[in-house]
Amino acid sequence: MQYDPLFIQVVLYLGTALWLGLPAWFANGMPLIFGGGTPIDLGKNFRDGKRILGDGKTIRGFIAGLLSGIIVTYIQTLFIPQTLDLIQEYTILTPNVYEIINTNLLRGCLLSLGALFGDLLGSFIKRRRGMKRGEMFLGMDQLGFIIFAILFALPVIQPDVIFVLILLGISFIAHILANVISYLIGIKNEPH
Ligand code: CTP
Ligand code: MG
Repeated sequence: MQYDPLFIQVVLYLGTALWLGLPAWFANGMPLIFGGGTPIDLGKNFRDGKRILGDGKTIRGFIAGLLSGIIVTYIQTLFIPQTLDLIQEYTILTPNVYEIINTNLLRGCLLSLGALFGDLLGSFIKRRRGMKRGEMFLGMDQLGFIIFAILFALPVIQPDVIFVLILLGISFIAHILANVISYLIGIKNEPH
C-alpha cells in the first residue's frame, strides 16, 4: 500500500517524539494511580511557613514514577529492532531518529528522574507562591516535567529541536486531556 509521503513524515515525527517522551510521561502519570502516603517533605514547612512541597508529592508516588519510567524503557528496548525496521520500510532513517529510537535504561532513568524533579520543582514554586495543593499553575503543570526530563537526559540523547517542540506540544495537550479524564473517572479531585 502506498502512503502519502507527507503523511509518513508526520507519523514519523509524532511517533519519534512520543517514543522519546514515553518514560517521562509514565514517570509523571503513574504517581496519580500508585501515589499516596508519606509526603516527600515529611509534612515540613519551608522558612516562609508554607509547606516545602505539600501532600501531593509522596515518596510512594516518586518511586512508582521512577519504576514505571524504567519498566516502560525496558519494554521499548525490546522493540528497537522492529521499530527501526518499520521506519526503514517506509522512509529514510536519519541519524537523530536512529539515536532516539535506540534507547537504553540509563536514558530511561534520566528521563524519569528529570520528569519527577520537574514536577517537584513545580510544586516547590507553587507553594512559595502560596498556591494550594492541586491548584493549577498553567505552563508549569503541563510542561515542567517534560522540560526537565529532556534536560536530565541531554548528556545521553540530544534530540533535534523539532522533536523537542513536538514533544512539548503533545505533552501539553496530553496532560490536560489525561487530567480531565482522571477527574471524570474519579481518580482526581480537580479536572487539571
Ligand atoms: N502524586 C504522588 N507523588 C508524586 C506526584 C504525584 O503521590 N511524587 C499523586 C498525588 O496523589 C497527587 C496526584 O498524584 O495529588 C496528582 O499529581 P499532581 O497534579 O502533580 O499534584 P497536585 O495534587 O496537583 O499537587 P501540586 O499542587 O503540588 O502540584
Ligand atoms: Mg495538579
